[in-house]
Amino acid sequence: PGSVVRGADGVLRVGGIPVTDLAAEYGTPAYVVDEADLRSRAAAYRTAFSAAFPAGADVYYAGKSFLCKAVVRWIAEEGLNLDVCSGGELAVALAAGFDPARIGFHGNNKSLAELDRAVSAGVGRIIVDSFDEIERLATLAADRGVRAPVMVRVTVGVEAHTHEYIATAHEDQKFGFSLNRGRAGREGGDAAEAVRRVLAAPSLRLLGLHSHIGSQIYDAQGFEVSARRVLGLQAQIRDEHGIEPPELDLGGGFGIAYTTQDDPFEPVEIATALAGIVQHECTAYGLSVPRISVEPGRSISGPAAFTLYEVGTVKDVELDGGAVRRYVSVDGGMSDNIRTALYDASYSCTLASRLSDAPPALSRVVGKHCESGDIVVRDEFLPSDLAPGDLIAVPGTGAYTRSMANNYNHVPRPGVVAVADGTARVIVRAETEDDLLRLDVG
Ligand code: LLP
Repeated sequence: PGSVVRGADGVLRVGGIPVTDLAAEYGTPAYVVDEADLRSRAAAYRTAFSAAFPAGADVYYAGKSFLCKAVVRWIAEEGLNLDVCSGGELAVALAAGFDPARIGFHGNNKSLAELDRAVSAGVGRIIVDSFDEIERLATLAADRGVRAPVMVRVTVGVEAHTHEYIATAHEDQKFGFSLNRGRAGREGGDAAEAVRRVLAAPSLRLLGLHSHIGSQIYDAQGFEVSARRVLGLQAQIRDEHGIEPPELDLGGGFGIAYTTQDDPFEPVEIATALAGIVQHECTAYGLSVPRISVEPGRSISGPAAFTLYEVGTVKDVELDGGAVRRYVSVDGGMSDNIRTALYDASYSCTLASRLSDAPPALSRVVGKHCESGDIVVRDEFLPSDLAPGDLIAVPGTGAYTRSMANNYNHVPRPGVVAVADGTARVIVRAETEDDLLRLDVG
């Protein structure tokens, strides 16, 4: 994060606080989030989109990347809206007092109970993802005597250049309605049919179309194609129904720099590119520009936090041919950051607790789990005098780490410490073995 600097003693300081103090006070592993950094990333989106879309645009922070009550409050204070994708995320948002009208509710299989809660709370938009859901929501809203605001999630057929598991807009996956295929086989595919069904339901109100093309996207190309296709449907809706839905959501997925090889896609660059694309396509189709929204998660929460680990063992393993691979084991692993094991994600790391003049040694940082794929950082040069007790910091772990944390091997999940104005405080408590045992009622 922005305020992390190394002191003359070699100790990393975040917001002026030495990480050695954080480790002593809160233990390791710990996620350390720089509140000012997360807030400023949120504010940068807000400012960039307001400037690029003078008629108005909304930024929905994607809570799946990292959500807790403190973050919900920061997001609210920075003027963002919130994207949630489960009853649990909705519960956190409501518990933190977030305005339900500024919440968008996602999910390809929301339960009746989840939909009921969203409708009763007055959630501002429900993104529908299947014909079953349209029917379910229409009935529920009719029963409750309300008109539920709906966006139709469209599969635009774009393959974002990203890991296969997180590209969501190509055709063969579970999200959205296809634009060119479907049961009816008519022009516009299932997406046009979904729009017909929403418009035919008196208890539903069509806010607009939604598309999300994937994650870790570094340029505007994919958005150009997706905006063209989704606005093509917008034009078809106008021609067929005589209306232009007032909003359009282009999703999230803006890439961040996990290592120095990545070039982050910055808010101003994104907002300017999207404004150009949307304006161009709307002119081409003769449409008015809908109110645009986006859903960045990782690019707000990711770079704002690092994980602090303590080294437990250092082992040199002789490879075939005589080379040596150094395995540095830390006190966490795939339970607090599963991304390396799951997506082959790249991270970097650094010795955080002291200076070292020792020559660098190519090291692999691994966790404490009973699985050889339990890798935190695949390859990093760390000082060759690294020893048990040293602290290691892995930057860029604010997104999809705590939110995907698990209890494999009954390892308790680490807490989250927020640093702001030179003070640290716990915003998510670390789990204890008692927490784990509490659920085990057998
Ligand atoms: N909107 C929708 C509809 C999404 O599905 C997602 C992410 C986002 C927004 C936010 O995307 P972001 O800006 O954070 O990239 N666990 C994976 C990422 C899964 C993303 C799922 N959807 C990872 O760790 O890379």
